[in-house]
Amino acid sequence: MTSIFVTGTDTGIGKTVVTSLLVRFLNDHGKKFIPYKPIQSGAEYHDGEWGAPDPYVYSIINKLDALKDQCTYLLKKACSPHLAAKYENVQIDFSLIERNIQLLANQADGTIVEGAGGLFVPLTTDGYCVIDWLEKLRIPTVLVTHAGVGSINHTVLSVEALQSRGIPIAGIIMNHLQEDDKEVTHDNKQMIERLTGIPIICEVPFIAGMTEESMENVNACFQDWKIEIILEAFKNGFTTINGTK
Ligand SMILES: Nc1ncnc2c1ncn2[C@@H]1O[C@H](COP(=O)(O)OP(=O)(O)OP(=O)(O)O)[C@@H](O)[C@H]1O
Ligand SMILES: [Mg+2]
Repeated sequence: MTSIFVTGTDTGIGKTVVTSLLVRFLNDHGKKFIPYKPIQSGAEYHDGEWGAPDPYVYSIINKLDALKDQCTYLLKKACSPHLAAKYENVQIDFSLIERNIQLLANQADGTIVEGAGGLFVPLTTDGYCVIDWLEKLRIPTVLVTHAGVGSINHTVLSVEALQSRGIPIAGIIMNHLQEDDKEVTHDNKQMIERLTGIPIICEVPFIAGMTEESMENVNACFQDWKIEIILEAFKNGFTTINGTK
């Protein structure tokens, strides 16, 4: 059983899209992975019910229906989890989430756990951040970064933060959030790999007008993806400081 954590250089960087696509791609190659968003803020109200927007995207791309298992803490306010939880007087029980990760992983080949925002997003009012929790979990972590200008700095900072805590990095996924200058994105890719020593395991192309519904047809995203590279990245992680295996 494999558990993989998906974090990003920022909020809105494409973690949900990447989580959904990884699950779909693995599934298309005979590996069943279950997506999981333990803490979701910014719940959305539809048809008389509060729903979790990220698991909703997972369900569209992966044709899932058991949405309730895909989120443990659904918080209404669209902000950092520590503040959203404070608003509703909710105490996040991390051991409950960890048990759920195991439960989901045991039902399949593994689970892909989507974090909240980036690494220094507080999860409790004491300032316990995503990175503190990851330091304890130590599960291989995929870092989602955007492909365009500004990405080198954010990516290197995030990689250094992960390495300084000894958190295994499975790889970087570069997400094309917009149509960027190809020379820039090509150079970003090379420079990120050179500065971090961590491979970019795949890229997600820009999909014009991406909506949850249009994502039902996702094959265009997978043109350059290789299942062996992703499975290898999940298995090994890059565990030590300086990016050596
Ligand atoms: N490759 C892409 N092409 C076009 N649009 C994209 C792409 N990747 C992400 N987006 C859009 O960018 C927005 C943010 O993506 P997403 O929800 O995956 O980010 P996130 O990191 O999960 O955000 P959060 O921190 O809120 O969980 C969404 O509207 C999504 O549809
Ligand atoms: Mg998300």
